[in-house]
Amino acid sequence: RGSRVSWTCGSAKREARAPIRIIWLSVCVDMGVGVTCTWDAAQSGRCKYMLTILGIESSCDDTAAAVIRGVPDVAGEILSNIVWGQGDVHAPFGGVVPELAARAHAEKVDLVVEAALEAAGLGLGDMDAIAVTAGPGLIGGVLAGTMCAKGLSVASGLPLIAVNHLAGHALTPRLTDALAYPYVMLLVSGGHCQFLEVRGADDFIRLGSTIDDAPGEAFDKSAKLLGLGYPGGPLVEAEAKGGDAARFALPRPLLDRPGCDMSFSGLKTALRRLRDDMTTPEGGLFRQDRADICASFQRAVADILAEKSRRALRGAGLSGARFAVAGGVAANGEIRAALAAVARESGAQLVCPPLALCTDNAAMIAWAGLERFASGHREGLNFAARPRWPLDSRAKPLLGSGKRGAKA
Ligand code: KG4
Ligand code: ZN
Repeated sequence: RGSRVSWTCGSAKREARAPIRIIWLSVCVDMGVGVTCTWDAAQSGRCKYMLTILGIESSCDDTAAAVIRGVPDVAGEILSNIVWGQGDVHAPFGGVVPELAARAHAEKVDLVVEAALEAAGLGLGDMDAIAVTAGPGLIGGVLAGTMCAKGLSVASGLPLIAVNHLAGHALTPRLTDALAYPYVMLLVSGGHCQFLEVRGADDFIRLGSTIDDAPGEAFDKSAKLLGLGYPGGPLVEAEAKGGDAARFALPRPLLDRPGCDMSFSGLKTALRRLRDDMTTPEGGLFRQDRADICASFQRAVADILAEKSRRALRGAGLSGARFAVAGGVAANGEIRAALAAVARESGAQLVCPPLALCTDNAAMIAWAGLERFASGHREGLNFAARPRWPLDSRAKPLLGSGKRGAKA
């Protein structure tokens, strides 16, 4: 009581903060002999604290469904995780087209759910609840997912849990690494970029955020400017491998200001100018010039994220002892390396969930749903799909967040 408990689960080490809310532990653990995990017994369905959740995600350009089984605060297992990416739908346009995304989600979501249940070898009747992304995101896609979830709930009688997409990303390290609260989270994707102090499944403090573009968006737009294709992140990274990152001094906006807010749109504008300057009379770029531009751009993004991470860890004090990173941009090798260096120098444990769980997926929605379900959340059928849904409701709306308030 009042201290941290750690135990071993197979070969994995787990830890939780006492008082442990889950009676499961005291039921399963023989305190007399020491702390022993009976996870295998629990998995065989003999533990009533074990929850099985269907998750549905459709807020951007991935239609996804997953089934997870787990015990809140302890650990979870992914039984299936199906992602139908819409890359081919949007590639000709160099970015996500909301109308096309919405149609594609509506066409595929029920098939993806069916595939997830089949891959898990379970039926709807085996679920305890349905968790669905209710925002923030492209409203047509969010509606497709929530309508599907509501339909399934009506048909099966299963309770519904509305999940904030960003909470899904932010809680993933608890699914993959049983990370204990509180921790600092950098969420860095195509639509979002923010530092959060994660204190609980429903308790987030925003430490800083981009005031304009997200880094993934900057990667995508830069790739488009350089004629590389979509999605831009991996293409820019591949191109940057042969480039000289020190050749062009691209700006690092907001680094001279205190705090953890970031800006990436100026970087993209500087890159456009550079491209125009370097364009040959024939209208193209020399291969080396393009590689150097990509490398310099990538270095600038890595520098901004590293410096702001340093500040976030410092500012969050004790919770800085744990630092998690998620979102599609966390796939970038140079950025990962820069963040790992910051974690090392700050004495923080760095957790990067596996790539497939860093990018959009439904396992993260199911896990966030499981945590919410365990703390008593249930939604009525009338819950709304929300294009904007800040995780930290106390945080001030950001500059550049638009008339309708903060997006996230
Ligand atoms: O998290 P995610 O799959 O979707 C959301 O935006 O929510 O992130 C996708 C973003 C895209 O903008 C993509 O270009 C970027 O992540 N990305 C990368 C890399 N891989 C994906 N950015 C930089 N380097 C990468 N290797
Ligand atoms: Zn996302």
